[in-house]
Amino acid sequence: MDEHRNTDRDWEQLGREKPYWAVIISSKWDVPKEEIDPSEYIEPGRQHIDDICSRHPLATLDLGNITAVDFGCGVGRLTIPMAERCEHVHAIDISSAMRSEASKNAALLGQNNVSFHETPSSVPGKIGWINSFIVFQHIATRNGLGLFDQLIDLLAVGGVISMHFTYARRSKAAARKADELVVMSARDGKIEGLVEPNFPDNGKMLMFDYDLNKIIARLQTRGFESLSILFTDYRDHLGVNIIGQKGKT
Ligand SMILES: C[S@@+](CC[C@H](N)C(=O)[O-])C[C@H]1O[C@@H](n2cnc3c(N)ncnc32)[C@H](O)[C@@H]1O
Repeated sequence: MDEHRNTDRDWEQLGREKPYWAVIISSKWDVPKEEIDPSEYIEPGRQHIDDICSRHPLATLDLGNITAVDFGCGVGRLTIPMAERCEHVHAIDISSAMRSEASKNAALLGQNNVSFHETPSSVPGKIGWINSFIVFQHIATRNGLGLFDQLIDLLAVGGVISMHFTYARRSKAAARKADELVVMSARDGKIEGLVEPNFPDNGKMLMFDYDLNKIIARLQTRGFESLSILFTDYRDHLGVNIIGQKGKT
């Protein structure tokens, strides 16, 4: 069903046309990118990373000695605060336009410990922390689960994840099958409804729900002993930010 849709092309276009708005849908950021102050833009991202880092087990890690991954880095909103705490950050994004914006912002804000990648395959292993927020929700689930497997395989024993997935929707829509698509209107972020996978024009932002059984089984069989879950609820899309530490398998 969903595997026909190539969301990668959408993100290349969104990254070229409106990178800041595409990361955080708000009229405040629907302005030419030259008018955006990156310090102001990343401030909520910094608060998000502060919150994640205050939680077990991230709070117990010596992040200054850790190499981290930010999967779906966008314009660097979370990457840059991560780089301020970690020895090095590998920032992955499928969109070259997003990567170049993030790279410019990291340089502007004095973080030269970030390297950029199109996919996880070029990231060296033994990663201490993998973060991903509001990213998998935009990747067709079959493709997303493959990327998730690749990322988890990069994690060192004792490494930590903070990874976000949407899994259901409120109201009537919540009863629909996981894996079905919705399109968020590119203008105001409103949900337009379920569509056939090939129907939307390129450059639309699609939302996918993941089957949490598939995520949790992957984590258990790769050595995670316990997980904590922070719920998210964004415009009727219910999600989980999963935090956990990889133990010995
Ligand atoms: C909503 S933005 C979130 C950016 C960032 N995580 C943040 O919270 O500021 C989603 C990002 O995921 C990226 N993305 C989408 N599909 C991807 C894929 N298959 N691999 C890597 N990144 C992807 C997009 O290009 C975009 O930059």
